[in-house]
Amino acid sequence: MDKPIIRLYPQPGSEQSLKGTYLAHNLRQQASEDQAFVYTNFVVSLDGRIAIPRGETQVMSVPRSIANNRDWRLFQELAAQADLIVVSSDYIHNWAQGKASEILQVDEPQFADLCDWRRACGLSPQADVAIISKNLRFSIPDVLTAGGRKVIVFTTADPDPVCVREIEKHAVRIIIAGDRKSVNGTTMVDYLTDLGYRTIFSSAGPQILYLLLTNNVLNRLYMTHACRILGGNSYASLVEGELLKPAVDLTLNSLYLDPPGRDGLSQFFIAYDRT
Ligand SMILES: NC(=O)c1ccc[n+]([C@@H]2O[C@H](COP(=O)([O-])OP(=O)(O)OC[C@H]3O[C@@H](n4cnc5c(N)ncnc54)[C@H](OP(=O)(O)O)[C@@H]3O)[C@@H](O)[C@H]2O)c1
Repeated sequence: MDKPIIRLYPQPGSEQSLKGTYLAHNLRQQASEDQAFVYTNFVVSLDGRIAIPRGETQVMSVPRSIANNRDWRLFQELAAQADLIVVSSDYIHNWAQGKASEILQVDEPQFADLCDWRRACGLSPQADVAIISKNLRFSIPDVLTAGGRKVIVFTTADPDPVCVREIEKHAVRIIIAGDRKSVNGTTMVDYLTDLGYRTIFSSAGPQILYLLLTNNVLNRLYMTHACRILGGNSYASLVEGELLKPAVDLTLNSLYLDPPGRDGLSQFFIAYDRT
């Protein structure tokens, strides 16, 4: 973690510590009065894979061959700046089965500085959580709401009343935000902004990124490009959905070279802003 990264953009470039790189992006200052600042993050292979089947199963997960501690440190810095973290029902399902853990790892000694940082900003140890789901076929693990964390579920019109009752038993609010087909990102972000959330971090995958892009509510996309080509016929890439019309344009916000990367391979940390 001590090895430095090199800022390539904006110029002039310079060597700097990895630690603190994304905290210095001051995301909490980026929110406007009328819209919370919405951002997301992906680690991706050179051939665009963000998830591949785990082992011999069809269950997709982040490729182990590109995940790495240095990317994870920056992911934690992004999560630490969030008032609210958006997750998918799959993540909650995995959590309920003990296959997934906290996104923001405040209990990990290596991230104690981020816990202190949140405290100094007057934030609760954990960000609140928003779950986006059409089907509502998941259960809420008790650990999710422990410690007073608020959980909000955003779903589509005419949800299954049995599933609604089951989720509401856990004191979780369900908001209908959209038609029968899809949650509407604008309705969701407006609702969260009205509740006072200033920074919203989507840690979900390609379908939810599609939703944020089509509704034009994503402000910043963070990507880690691992310098590895994975191949394979079955994989997920950054966005899943119909052709985007019009295509979404982004501009470069910042670019860093991480020479140690993973296994001594270099990687790039890149941030793009919606134009
Ligand atoms: N490489 C990376 O950095 C990275 C980052 C994030 C995720 N991933 C990987 O990508 C894969 C998929 O991620 P994910 O499941 O978190 O996210 P996702 O594919 O974006 O979301 C999937 C689920 O979200 C709900 N959903 C999505 N769009 C919706 C809409 N418009 N309206 C209502 N509900 C909607 C649906 O839930 P219901 O079925 O409940 O209706 C859907 O099954 C996973 O393998 C994950 O590990 C990789």
